[in-house]
Amino acid sequence: VSLKPYNSFGLPAQAGRLVRIRSDADVRAVVDHPDMGRAPRFILGGGTNVILTRDMPELVLKVEVPGLRLLRETADDWIIEAGAGVPWHTLVAWTLDQGWPGLENMALIPGTVGAAPVQNIGAYGLELKDRFESLDAVDLVTGRTVTLRQEICAFGYRDSVFKRALAGKSLITRVRLRLPKAWQPMLGYLDLSRKAEETGIAAPDARTIFQWVCDIRRAKLPDPAQIGNVGSFFKNPVVSAEQCRDIIARDPHIVHYPMDDGSFKLAAGWMIDACGWKGKSIGHAGVYEKQALVLVNRGGAVGAEVQTLARAIQESVYGRFGIRLEPEPVIV
Ligand code: EPU
Repeated sequence: VSLKPYNSFGLPAQAGRLVRIRSDADVRAVVDHPDMGRAPRFILGGGTNVILTRDMPELVLKVEVPGLRLLRETADDWIIEAGAGVPWHTLVAWTLDQGWPGLENMALIPGTVGAAPVQNIGAYGLELKDRFESLDAVDLVTGRTVTLRQEICAFGYRDSVFKRALAGKSLITRVRLRLPKAWQPMLGYLDLSRKAEETGIAAPDARTIFQWVCDIRRAKLPDPAQIGNVGSFFKNPVVSAEQCRDIIARDPHIVHYPMDDGSFKLAAGWMIDACGWKGKSIGHAGVYEKQALVLVNRGGAVGAEVQTLARAIQESVYGRFGIRLEPEPVIV
């Protein structure tokens, strides 16, 4: 089976066998299967955050669990539940259509609901963990469904237990989110506060913010349906206040944000841009013209070319800033 249609970078790779998962029972059937039960496996959601650099002899489990519903409404919030196979943006748009605000800053993030907790997706000052209630996952050894709450998920910046201790060990089938009725617009990010200023709308409603986020993202991020990509290719590195001061002393313009714990997050896109990479290519892999943090498929790219480009960028950023950039997508 070709995985090319199933990864948003459009990289060529073959899977020995692909099984579609639409329910917990489908997972149990795989676990109990005489051949498939013990085979190495790889869990694939929307394929919007993976770089495939080789063929996959593993069993590929493609998550397609459907469903979107209000689980319960309390005096303070709406608790919603979505199947892991639902596109994330479909969920965001649906909640706003129902009149439940709270996810608008995360509009248009590619990928599925089930992949969202894996890397704790986030944008414009909001992360999945800020709205997370719990999730159901099927243990890939026992076939049992377990419900995991916030503490166990160990969410961090683009990180969770599903990238660490539970990597490849459990398959997320449903995610529940809590949307507080006491809603407040989150306009802390420059791109959004600029929109508020431009339009003269100081107190936008959730629909308006949704539209702004969609406009901002469409203007600077390539649509994977047109240009293969996985969004940001590197994480924004976090450094100590001391390191940050050193770098500012050498590069006064570096974009940096203070974190709650006194450390600083540096804009990797700015650093890559400063190293002159914007618009450059190696083979068929390139650096997007409008956002240097995004690597793109110029047509016919293979995983090895993406890796070569990523390494070259890492080297030049290290050479100039002394910072090691970490890839953000899962590299297989
Ligand atoms: N910048 C440049 N040149 C560039 C790119 C960026 O100078 O080529 C500067 C920008 O002007 C800005 C700063 O770097 O001052 C940060 O850029 P931007 O606001 O576009 O956000 P980002 O740090 O590149 C992060 C997330 C995105 C998320 C946006 C908005 C990560 C790795 N990326 O990008 O998430 O949508 O903020 O919140 O944290 C993703 O994870 O795939 C992703 C797209």
